Amino acid sequence: MSNVNVVLGAFYGDEGKGKVIDYLSKDAKYAVRFSGGNNAGHSIEVDGKKFAFHLLPSGILNTNIKAILGNGVVIDPKVLLEEINSLKASGYSVNNLYISEKAHVIFPYHIVLDGLLEEVRGGRKIGTTKRGIGPAYCDKYERCGIRMEDFIGSNFKELLKINVANKNVILKAYKQPKLKFADIYKEYIEYAKELKKYVCDTTTMLHKAIKKGENILCEGAQATLLDIDFGSYPYVTSSNPTIGGVSTGTGIGAKYIDEVYGVIKAYSSRVGEGPYVTEQINEIGNKIRELGHEYGTTTKRPRRCGWLDLVALNYAIMVNGLTAIAMNHLDTIEKLDKIKLCVAYKYKNKITTDFKANLDFLNNSEAVYEEFDGNFGDISSCKTFEELPENAKKYICRIEELTGTPIKFIGTGAGRENIIVR
Ligand code: IMO
Ligand code: MG
Repeated sequence: MSNVNVVLGAFYGDEGKGKVIDYLSKDAKYAVRFSGGNNAGHSIEVDGKKFAFHLLPSGILNTNIKAILGNGVVIDPKVLLEEINSLKASGYSVNNLYISEKAHVIFPYHIVLDGLLEEVRGGRKIGTTKRGIGPAYCDKYERCGIRMEDFIGSNFKELLKINVANKNVILKAYKQPKLKFADIYKEYIEYAKELKKYVCDTTTMLHKAIKKGENILCEGAQATLLDIDFGSYPYVTSSNPTIGGVSTGTGIGAKYIDEVYGVIKAYSSRVGEGPYVTEQINEIGNKIRELGHEYGTTTKRPRRCGWLDLVALNYAIMVNGLTAIAMNHLDTIEKLDKIKLCVAYKYKNKITTDFKANLDFLNNSEAVYEEFDGNFGDISSCKTFEELPENAKKYICRIEELTGTPIKFIGTGAGRENIIVR
């Protein structure tokens, strides 16, 4: 039997999933994205060169890997071609890319609607990435979406015409300019021609791999607290970045899944609107942002920063069945004098460790902290857990104790080699 391993975000995204994926992809034959689209931003540094992917599986940098965009992903063809072409410019052939025929396509009207609906929400805006993700998933569930197989097939023109006409009705209601079908078709039919060679039945492909005993790495985007069901609804994304999304977004059933790694930072961050119990809107938050370079890969927005939240982490462990944790950015908090760890919430004068993805609960909960000594000293050269300074070990062991989950990977710097594996 093969190993199917999964990497998921355990908080509000941007945990550094790319780094863990990069490490695990050494042993994998397949790297699969199963949900989301180019709202994600995964950066990896290889030989001093920085790669930032939004859509492509990060594992594609390992040319022995077959990189798959699964059926659960929504694909902006323009962005995908940009990423393919930039990889080609760096010397990669990109012949190892496969796109599910069932993945849905993002069109310009999805992007227009994403921006428009945010405006309409006014004070209740979500702070989306405005990449058309939500509207594309809406069409999928409305059953009017255009899948990759339609996009490259003979019905594309007709389906696009119907969709543009319907979206123009909505745009007119909001007094927005009409979209021109002919312009969109002319541009997108060219993208379809270029992408056609990558489109196939990825589910059958993956199951053949499972039968052969080949390793498969499922690459999560977004994160548990951004999940449409389990996140801080409505301040979430429009898909399931949690474990269930792996099965529905690839066709790999639960019984085939082995390790489920949840990625966190030694602190925490969030972009966009919505509750965030351990947020530090103060000097500490600013300091973490600067030390951790917490500015979005996708939208360049400054990220909201705060302390690590074990109430949320234990929830992520629970709903995903995490088998181990990967912790990044230990080198970032190293430079702080004191480090705080949220171990419980105080809600309506009661202490609780049960997370609820409910706005009233999250907006009115106060974090209860334990405090640790920082100033570990430079840890970038530490190769084993034993080599880490005592204060760093204390912090890590306490997290393991309160979560009952091993911290298997520890990120000690930005480079590919800055990782401790236990
Ligand atoms: P990675 O994979 C951080 C957030 C947006 C917004 C909400 C909804 O890099 O961890 P959407 O455009 O998805 O409809 O926006 O979700 N969001 C992310 N935040 N990292 C991401 O991905 C995100 N993808 C979406 O900021 O609050
Ligand atoms: Mg991101």
